[in-house]
Amino acid sequence: MTGDGAKGVKQIHQTPSKIDPQSIKGFMAEDEGQALAEAARLAGTLGPVLEIGSYCGRSAAYLGPAARAAGTVLYALDHHRGSEENQPGWEWHDQTLWDEKAQALDTLPSFRRNIAAAGLEDCVIALIGHSPRIARHWTTPLGMVFIDGGHTMKAAFDDYRGWAGKILPGGILAIHDVFPNPADGGRPPFEIYRKALESGLFEQLSFVRSLALLRRLG
Ligand SMILES: C[S@@+](CC[C@H](N)C(=O)[O-])C[C@H]1O[C@@H](n2cnc3c(N)ncnc32)[C@H](O)[C@@H]1O
Repeated sequence: MTGDGAKGVKQIHQTPSKIDPQSIKGFMAEDEGQALAEAARLAGTLGPVLEIGSYCGRSAAYLGPAARAAGTVLYALDHHRGSEENQPGWEWHDQTLWDEKAQALDTLPSFRRNIAAAGLEDCVIALIGHSPRIARHWTTPLGMVFIDGGHTMKAAFDDYRGWAGKILPGGILAIHDVFPNPADGGRPPFEIYRKALESGLFEQLSFVRSLALLRRLG
């Protein structure tokens, strides 16, 4: 790590989220969040950080301060209508996030409240919409992309195809819920992780639980 890097670590500790990210509803463990933050602090010096799948803002509460410490911002992309497994009748449905009027899930009010409470409105920019549609029109090269959106095969591949090519050389691709052993969880995130390695465009950096971190080659 360079002298600048060490300084960056200090900055993260000086300006963390004002609330514990683990107090925000979500699906990211503390050690995964810390690994994500460290990656964003390094890759954020190359360009902005973008996450696909913000839900109520837990991962953004790790990534936002890291992006800020690196002198950039986090684009937090989500249509805020929930993934398949968040819908009524599914395992990860939370009725308190249901919008009666819209007859749909709506995580945006919660996301917005949490980002404000975390003191991150200066460095977390919400992108509200369908990931592949936003990717089609996105032209800014990115320092880091974190994929944690829909977990169907189509959704995962759409996110990989839409965003991986926008990562700058030296930048980082992070993928959540990557389970090499099928007994531990669903296949789509693992399949795009494998695709990224097979493409020859990425090399593996590390694994923290189910969080895979890869570096974009030059
Ligand atoms: C597993 S949750 C994200 C969890 C979050 N990163 C955390 O730390 O708690 C997945 C999110 O992806 C969003 N999502 C799923 N498919 C999407 C798509 N095609 N475009 C935008 N957002 C999508 C859902 O609305 C949901 O909020």
